[in-house]
Amino acid sequence: MKRLVQDGRPLVAIMVDGEVVDARAGDPLATALALAGRMRLRASPNAGAPRGAFCHMGVCQECVLHVDGALRQACLTPVRAGMAVELRGVP
Ligand code: FES
Repeated sequence: MKRLVQDGRPLVAIMVDGEVVDARAGDPLATALALAGRMRLRASPNAGAPRGAFCHMGVCQECVLHVDGALRQACLTPVRAGMAVELRGVP
C-alpha cells in the first residue's frame, strides 16, 4: 500500500505488539497498519484464518483489535501518538 497524497500531518510513533511503528497522526489506524505492512489484524474465531480490514467504514467488524486495552474498530480509530495496539490475542 502506498500513500498517494502527502500532507503536513506529522509522523508519530505507535506501539504495535511491542514494536515501534511510525504512522501519520489522524490516519485511520487500519490504514496506518496497512501502510506499515500489517494487513493481518486477527484470526477468525472458528477457523483461525487471517482476517483484516475489509469495509473500512465500520460495518464488517473485521478490524476489531485491542487499542490501549479496549476493543476498537481500527478503521474508525484515528492514530494518535503513543497508542498501544495489540494484534495478537484477538479472536
Ligand atoms: S474494516 Fe470493516 S469495520 Fe473496520
